[in-house]
Amino acid sequence: MNEMKNPYAYTEAEILNVVDETANIKTFTIRPKEAIVFRAGQFMDLTLPGIGEAPFTPSSNHNVKATLDFTIMSAGRVTKLLHQAKKGDTVGVRGPYGLGYPLDKFRSKEVFIVGGGVGLAPLRALLYALFNEADQYKKIILKYGARTPKDIVYKVEIDSWRAKAKHVETEITTDIGDESWNGNVGLVTTILKKESVDVNNAVAIVCGPPIMMKFVTFKLLDIGFKDSDIHLSMEKNMSCGIGKCGHCRIGPYYACKDGPVFTYDKIKDLPNIWD
Ligand SMILES: Cc1cc2nc3c(=O)[nH]c(=O)nc-3n(C[C@H](O)[C@H](O)[C@H](O)COP(=O)(O)OP(=O)(O)OC[C@H]3O[C@@H](n4cnc5c(N)ncnc54)[C@H](O)[C@@H]3O)c2cc1C
Ligand code: FES
Repeated sequence: MNEMKNPYAYTEAEILNVVDETANIKTFTIRPKEAIVFRAGQFMDLTLPGIGEAPFTPSSNHNVKATLDFTIMSAGRVTKLLHQAKKGDTVGVRGPYGLGYPLDKFRSKEVFIVGGGVGLAPLRALLYALFNEADQYKKIILKYGARTPKDIVYKVEIDSWRAKAKHVETEITTDIGDESWNGNVGLVTTILKKESVDVNNAVAIVCGPPIMMKFVTFKLLDIGFKDSDIHLSMEKNMSCGIGKCGHCRIGPYYACKDGPVFTYDKIKDLPNIWD
């Protein structure tokens, strides 16, 4: 008789490193006992045995097979406890789930990436995937917004991304400045300009808090992007991650199975998409 595999079974993983990105965001590097292969944009469930689990998108390069990075904001019960985990501790990991970014649709185009806050985590995995084959893309443009200069994640790394290829551009803005900050001050929508991108040969990828995604989408439409070229990470509340429980339903879709990345044309007429 065939043995049924438990879909909720997780692989144990050792925490190899923890980096404090900001006061409430940390990046964990973990090494699963069995390597997990994923595509940028897919997500996994991290488990604290006996406590609970939550979904996160790996923020690392999918070409690195032995370890995974997760950049996690302390939001509630599970993430607060995850933030107490130290190098050498064990967590569980299951997945990957979802479809990931459709890189085949991005090739030969300008890739216009817009991130807000910890939403830069899945976009970091996307950026690494693009850098792995940078000559396939016409331009790689990152526009990132954080609340204050102290809330910028991957501060040191972002500078190194600009050096990955000649056609990589990055710009950071903060809602509120301080004495250390000489970049733009204003919401991320203030740095999305028509002249930064050739909208007729570009795709936009957006990840951040729902309210940011809503106003960024409206701005992208305003500067001429088509609905079908705007890719949004719909991080709806999830439970099973495998299309069984219905928690993540968006109209006819399950975000865990049919997403979490959707083009705007697919979801724009569905109710409460920005909640
Ligand atoms: C596909 C996917 C990928 C994600 N990737 C990341 C990531 O890379 N890094 C990261 O920091 N977070 C990510 N999240 C969000 C993360 O899953 C939640 O922050 C986490 O589940 C909160 O669990 P908790 O037990 O700590 O908080 P809870 O006690 O469950 O909730 C605390 C607060 O957070 C809110 N919350 C819970 N889940 C979500 C959610 N999915 N979206 C928005 N608010 C939520 C609750 O409404 C509540 O206000 C992702 C979510 C999804 C669905
Ligand atoms: S999380 Fe259970 S169906 Fe999507």
